[in-house]
Amino acid sequence: MEKIIINGSNPLYGSIEISGAKNAAVAVIPATVMCSEGICVIDNMPDIEDVNKLVRILRTLGSNVRKINNTLIIDNSDLQSYRADSDDVHNMRASYYLIGALLARFKKAIVDLPGGCSIGDRPIDQHIRGLEKLGVNIRIEHGSVIAETDKLVGNNIFFDVVSVGATINVMLAACFADGVTVLENVAKEPHVVDVANFLNLMGANIKGAGTDIIKITGVNRLLGCNYSIIPDQIEASTYMMATAACTGEVLIKNVIPKHLESITAKLIEMGVTIFEYDDSILVKSVERLKGVNIKTAPYPGFPTDVQQIIGVLMSISEGTSIISESIFENRFKYFDELKKMGVNVKIEGRAAIINGVNRLTGCKLRATDLRAGAAMIIAGLVAEGTTEIVSIKHIDRGYPHIEEKFRKLGANIYREYRSDIKEFKNII
Ligand code: EPZ
Repeated sequence: MEKIIINGSNPLYGSIEISGAKNAAVAVIPATVMCSEGICVIDNMPDIEDVNKLVRILRTLGSNVRKINNTLIIDNSDLQSYRADSDDVHNMRASYYLIGALLARFKKAIVDLPGGCSIGDRPIDQHIRGLEKLGVNIRIEHGSVIAETDKLVGNNIFFDVVSVGATINVMLAACFADGVTVLENVAKEPHVVDVANFLNLMGANIKGAGTDIIKITGVNRLLGCNYSIIPDQIEASTYMMATAACTGEVLIKNVIPKHLESITAKLIEMGVTIFEYDDSILVKSVERLKGVNIKTAPYPGFPTDVQQIIGVLMSISEGTSIISESIFENRFKYFDELKKMGVNVKIEGRAAIINGVNRLTGCKLRATDLRAGAAMIIAGLVAEGTTEIVSIKHIDRGYPHIEEKFRKLGANIYREYRSDIKEFKNII
């Protein structure tokens, strides 16, 4: 079985480069389906499994995709199919963006229900309701979403919950709807803005992304363009937190500091020193972190995707820390693993109460989902002795070259490959 092995207790020093944002990339790739003329050249693509899966899915639809280093060159002019039902579709979350994108292109979409991290109930009712308001008939049969319409028509849609996925999915379909669509109570995450910017560059007319209201005036076609994905704010947060946990001093390059404000504020509260530059952040650790409380919230609040990572820092901080998880009800499973390292935590419903300990000790762990896997790596880097992490496929879905990046900072971390699959890795 493939595993990551860490010999812990080394401080981190040096600099690293953050890759393109996973959650922007996995929406931009499906959005290219809406471009029937010209070629989309998309740069700063993260080298992760979720991108590889989407490339394979696009190919099953008839897309011509080439990957050269961090650039995807996508020609969807001959796209034939509105049916996405390969294994990759239900092994990831973001395949649901194909519903909105294929509807825009073909007025019909048959897309298998998505998978993704098991972190709680993840309904898609807001996606469905929003698309129905644009005039789409939707039913779920045999594990697939079947969506069709004669004509997409603009409408006013107020989302019941703030949802990244529903905001982007409905925004995609609304680009080709007759008239004007107004989306209210939308998600404001940087990746929502990135997808809107990409669509606008292709010729869409979207205003207000990044605020509570997005207004979309329908257009007839979208054309190819050159685009570069924004830096990944969650990957950047991960390395900022790792530096604080392990001690040391790290310059984190290729970031947008504004996107990291909630993280920076919490780290400063924990005693860490942060210097912000135009497109980089320097993190200088403190001898012992101070306990803090966090409540996860949609952007610009503290991201649920960093909750598991700060959970490790709280575990070794002075005093008591409390996490309130308000987005996903089942995102504390990782603590069952961390307890084996000596973490002192009590879960009460949607709250985790953590009493900081002086040391963690290495052991065998199973990554339960993507960010849990990253949290376990940081715990292993902090711990005394050796930590072995299995089920690392979750980590590969969203973190490019994570062991290499940590090794560059002085960590003792490596991957033990299954000899039979090593040579096939990263082939798409
Ligand atoms: C996106 O998931 C991200 N995934 C998640 O990234 C991230 O944790 C999450 O947004 C929140 O920021 C991708 O972008 C591919 P939501 P998504 O719809 O779109 C409820 C990571 O680690 N809801 O914003 O699935 C839902 O239950 C991950 O990179 C409904 O009730 O999340 C949740 O409580 C994992 N009905 C809340 O809204 C719906 O139709 C926010 O979910 C949709 C969502």
